[in-house]
Amino acid sequence: MRFIILTLTALLLAGCGKNGPTEPWKNPKMAVEKRAEDLLRRLTLEEKLDLLSGDGFMSSHGIPRLGVPAIRMADGPVGIRTWAMPGAPDKPGEPQTVHATAFPVGIAMGATWNPDLVAQEARVIAQEALVLGRNQVLGPTVNIARTPLWGRNFEGYGEDPWLTSRMGVAYIGAMQGEGVIPTVKHFAVNNQETRRNTVNVKVDQRALEEIYLPAFRAAVEEAGVWSVMSSYNKVNGAWAAENPELLNEILRKRWGFKGYVVSDWASTHSTGPTVNAGMDIEMPGPTVMPGLKDFMKNFPGGNPGFDGGYLERSKLKALFDSGEISKQTLDESVRRILRILFISGIIDRSLTPDKAPTKPEVDTPEQRLLARKAADQSIVLLKNDRNILPLDPQKVRTVALIGPNAEFNRVGGGGSSAVNPEYSWKPADGIRERAAGKMQISYALGATMEGEKETAPAATLLKEATDLAAKSDLAIVFVGFSAALEGEMADRKSLSLPAGQDDLIQAVAHANKNTIVVINSGSPVDVTKWVAQVPGVVEAWFPGQEGGHAIADILFGDVNPSGKLPVTFPKSMADSFAPIDAPEIEYKEGIFVGYRHFDKKNIEPAFAFGHGLSYTTFEYSNLTLTPVSPRYGQTVTLLVTVKNTGTRAGAEVVQVYLHDVKSSVERPVKELKGFQRVELKPGESQVVTMTLDRRSMWFYDPLVKDWAAEPGEFDVLVGSSSRDIRLKGQFALYE
Ligand code: BGC
Repeated sequence: MRFIILTLTALLLAGCGKNGPTEPWKNPKMAVEKRAEDLLRRLTLEEKLDLLSGDGFMSSHGIPRLGVPAIRMADGPVGIRTWAMPGAPDKPGEPQTVHATAFPVGIAMGATWNPDLVAQEARVIAQEALVLGRNQVLGPTVNIARTPLWGRNFEGYGEDPWLTSRMGVAYIGAMQGEGVIPTVKHFAVNNQETRRNTVNVKVDQRALEEIYLPAFRAAVEEAGVWSVMSSYNKVNGAWAAENPELLNEILRKRWGFKGYVVSDWASTHSTGPTVNAGMDIEMPGPTVMPGLKDFMKNFPGGNPGFDGGYLERSKLKALFDSGEISKQTLDESVRRILRILFISGIIDRSLTPDKAPTKPEVDTPEQRLLARKAADQSIVLLKNDRNILPLDPQKVRTVALIGPNAEFNRVGGGGSSAVNPEYSWKPADGIRERAAGKMQISYALGATMEGEKETAPAATLLKEATDLAAKSDLAIVFVGFSAALEGEMADRKSLSLPAGQDDLIQAVAHANKNTIVVINSGSPVDVTKWVAQVPGVVEAWFPGQEGGHAIADILFGDVNPSGKLPVTFPKSMADSFAPIDAPEIEYKEGIFVGYRHFDKKNIEPAFAFGHGLSYTTFEYSNLTLTPVSPRYGQTVTLLVTVKNTGTRAGAEVVQVYLHDVKSSVERPVKELKGFQRVELKPGESQVVTMTLDRRSMWFYDPLVKDWAAEPGEFDVLVGSSSRDIRLKGQFALYE
């Protein structure tokens, strides 16, 4: 008897009956909604209020009394950023001791046009997050590259909403599959760093709907994303973190978002309006806000008036007591957070800690391979005259490696997305390793990276480089940016390469006509000063820890390049939009961003959106569309045959653009509506199938405030880039 009573007491204390836990929130067999409701019911007012603010830099509040864990966050999106982790310093800027796999930056992943690869990347990032004790990753970034000078273009997937959406959806789905919370960011219209903390972006509804929001919408509607991060800026007059139109109307009511919104770090400006607009967790926590206030004051373009800690318990309590924040509103926020804690498995994993991953699985050989594969597929061969590439060891015996990025792997862009990998492979080492015994490799710096320590006078460095180039069979100049020159908190100042690099390329090209340029950048650069003088140009982005291997893979032809530009390279900033240094910016161009702008104004870009060469050739044939006269609700199936007509295996990204022949509003000359990457052996052909649904055809009609697909003809443009259309077809949409 005594034994039975003891057992029963123990079971009750543990909240367990014979058939599992008796407290519904602990029972994994119950529906998430019921569990969340049960847990919500058990919380004190203080516990609820605490859930609405962070605890330190990278954590939410847990509910210690009930053993509910905190949400432990880590920056993404291109790998786990390790500050504020156990064993790692808790303050930004301090040296890091914990490592994670550094993948190529977002724009590089965009250049792969390979959502499956993005999914594999996100899976690894999620697994590493769990190993490092994190359960929320602050990524993907899906903001659109409106201006080539945005310091953070490298984090996103480029200028096109469809491409960005596909990548974002792939990332989110894969990460959630691992039980880690992705955070699609930054919601919304965060497209420049200049005054990013205070700027008011005025953008018309059509541009919002067609350009800036589709990737967020896809994240919610298609991937069912668990968390969204609001941005720093104001959108049409209201701070993004307290914007009822964006958060409650569009995100929740219209798209059906069921997760929670976190504020960007130090981007809140009020208590009542923030909570009432539907922003759920203020980050970071109130205890670290004072430090951030100073930070905000001190960096150019920061927010000197910033306060913060608005959702701290006592401030919320006062408004709760006064009725400005209702119980219903508070409960809704808490419910949203709890729901994701259940749906992601965070609570269950904490209830059964033995099931949590214990073996450190960071930097495994498989992860390294994936980082290399991602970089391989991201590199874009921009120009290849005289088939200068791939390097032929039979013809090329001596190679001069020149430039500030040869002996330095520019892993990523600057700011919160920086990952600290175990190692980082330099281009020069990748090339030396591959050329060993076949080619003689020599090196000259040529020019110091702007902002880095000068080792010799510029003229001396230049002379060394040109002398070396002149006596070599071939020269490769590694130029571009550093993380200090391209990153968060500042926009790039111009389209040009950093100081001295244009001159370096020109001088080397003059000394050796076999000069190849390899660029590291997170955004377009001005190539016009030298592109005509060099036969080969390669865009390698910020390629992650395996950069050096991947660049060698491409230069030697071990991997056939297949990357395609996710952004237009303008010939001049006069052809594009620059960040604006003003308290208020109006996006006057509306929907005409990126190639939509270049097409409308009939401007020749230096390199077009979607451009990217291969060491083989592809032929397009037999475009068929069925039905050719769809009715509303029907899809059009597109078939096209692609053949590898060259002598090497390779991959082609087949791109499908639509043009609405006649419309009641002005529409872009073409818009990307489908793409597929196909791998083909020499001589092999494949029939590529894609479907175009009503959403491919519609536009946002500001008059009726809704999307409309108007009956009439649509041109279907199929090609290898937005300016290399190989086949055209047409269908007519009927009522
Ligand atoms: C960035 C976010 C980042 C956060 C936390 C902010 O400055 O805008 O993208 O996730 O810091 O590091």
